[in-house]
Amino acid sequence: MNLLTLKGWSNEDIINIIDKAIAIKKNPKKYIEVLKGKTLAMLFEKTSTRTRISFEAGMAQLGGHALFLDWKTTQLGKADLKDEIKCIGRYVDIIMARVYKQEAVEVMGEYAGKPVINGLSDKYHPCQIIADLMTIKENFGKLKGLKLAYIGDGNNVCNSLIVGCKKVGMKISVAAPKGYEPLEKPDLLTNDPVKAAAGADVIYTDTWVSMGQEEEKAKRLKVFPPYQVTKKLVGKALFMHCLPAYRGYEVTDEVIDSKQSIVFDQAENRMHAQKAIILKLLGKI
Ligand code: CP
Ligand code: NVA
Repeated sequence: MNLLTLKGWSNEDIINIIDKAIAIKKNPKKYIEVLKGKTLAMLFEKTSTRTRISFEAGMAQLGGHALFLDWKTTQLGKADLKDEIKCIGRYVDIIMARVYKQEAVEVMGEYAGKPVINGLSDKYHPCQIIADLMTIKENFGKLKGLKLAYIGDGNNVCNSLIVGCKKVGMKISVAAPKGYEPLEKPDLLTNDPVKAAAGADVIYTDTWVSMGQEEEKAKRLKVFPPYQVTKKLVGKALFMHCLPAYRGYEVTDEVIDSKQSIVFDQAENRMHAQKAIILKLLGKI
């Protein structure tokens, strides 16, 4: 079993992994020796703070070892990906990869011979969304029936949020500018942030310029300002962001620093959620 997109997992799988992540967070000591002698390879084609550290620290807490590898200091950037991943799969027990193209994690999933986790691609960011749904459940005590509004770029995070919210019975609306809509279909797609935010329990945003889109930065910064998440737009909802945030662009300081902002709980929960994902993929839970 892999985690390449949330679409590959059943509704029940997603609901269970969220509950397991909450249980692991409450009682981490129960799992300290579970992955003794196991190795996670972490392959990075793009930069990361949270994903790298939460996987590495999580693996250490489970008694296993995590190996950080990037495209520049390995042969991954030069050689055939199938050959390289077949070799990596011979050395380690599980692989996490952050790549430019979703197709690359799909190839890894097919040829590694070991479970592969998508640590973000151009299209999806499944680990982020499991942590996000876990954070929402911690705050509201439930998921079913809640409404999340995503405001901004219809990117990888937005696509995975749409898939994830639907799987757990949440409603999701998306406000994105024309030409920047997500691949996945939300319950409501609009160009109007106020319309999308109406009645939302959670307002979520992400950067206007994702990794790999740096050349489009000037153009994007002209299109996206009406999609900035402000205090007025958030109203009484909770505010979420996967981070890194670009303050003064997709969100104001006032919102991200407010009591309604749960961005650092989200970031922390990446580690608990990923422990649950690794344990599931290795058949330990
Ligand atoms: N949210 C997230 O994936 O952060 P990093 O890019 O720092 O890993
Ligand atoms: N959409 C962002 C998410 C970073 C965690 C990106 O892909 O750069």
